[in-house]
Amino acid sequence: MNAPIGVFDSGVGGLTVAREIMRQLPEENLVYFGDTARVPYGTKSKETVIRYSKQIIRFLLSKGVKAIVIACNTASAVCLPELAALYDVPIIGVVEPGANSAAKATKNKNIGIIGTNGTVKSGVYTKLLRKKDPEITVVTKACPLFVPLVEEGLIDDRITEDVTQRYLSELKGYDIDALVLGCTHYPLLMNPIGHYMGEKVTLVNPAYETAKTLKATLNEKNIANTEGNGGNHEYYVSDMVEQFLTFADRVLPCHVDKVNDIEIEKY
Ligand code: DGL
Repeated sequence: MNAPIGVFDSGVGGLTVAREIMRQLPEENLVYFGDTARVPYGTKSKETVIRYSKQIIRFLLSKGVKAIVIACNTASAVCLPELAALYDVPIIGVVEPGANSAAKATKNKNIGIIGTNGTVKSGVYTKLLRKKDPEITVVTKACPLFVPLVEEGLIDDRITEDVTQRYLSELKGYDIDALVLGCTHYPLLMNPIGHYMGEKVTLVNPAYETAKTLKATLNEKNIANTEGNGGNHEYYVSDMVEQFLTFADRVLPCHVDKVNDIEIEKY
């Protein structure tokens, strides 16, 4: 089935998840939507994130998508079960795959989770991990400044090192051996975070397991693209086309030359 997969995020960060889907499922067509007019979601209420997500899902369904990936950790954390129950297409979030990866990665059963305020406040990562294994202990920390630092391109910068130390120093006291990068932007900070936490801590990017879960779901439902005409990617945003293009060039292995600006409030 060559219908596309819909991938959405509060903005540009979800391209880190789209990138992994492209890598693991190169034969699939994608429609990516970034809600660049209404980002960030990490500071918004659950009701607002649900309302935005429903509009986006209606838009993606109008594009004929066969499955949807919520690339945004915040939206996955606060509203995946509600949304999945409402629509016929499979909807996959990034939180459960991220928790599964972390449970596999840890040996000492001490796991750290970093994300937006919304993700951390939801407590969903902790709940899923404790359900998987009640012996797991979880320590969480919201790192809201990481998002603007990544969007400014300040990856290998002194200011990012300082912020990393400020946020992560308290995690060092908990003897964690796995740290979930529970926000779309954080995998782009693998270097400063990995350098600060040290090599005994495995950094978990939920995107990897999310793409694996998507692949398994497509196969199970018999809707994977086997028609040989895939690999087409379309991009939509609700604002800031130029900024999206610059970010896309930094994150994706392929050049994006067209982004469509749409009025998401209409959906
Ligand atoms: N995409 C969001 C997430 O992964 C980060 C940016 C935001 O706060 O909207 O949680």
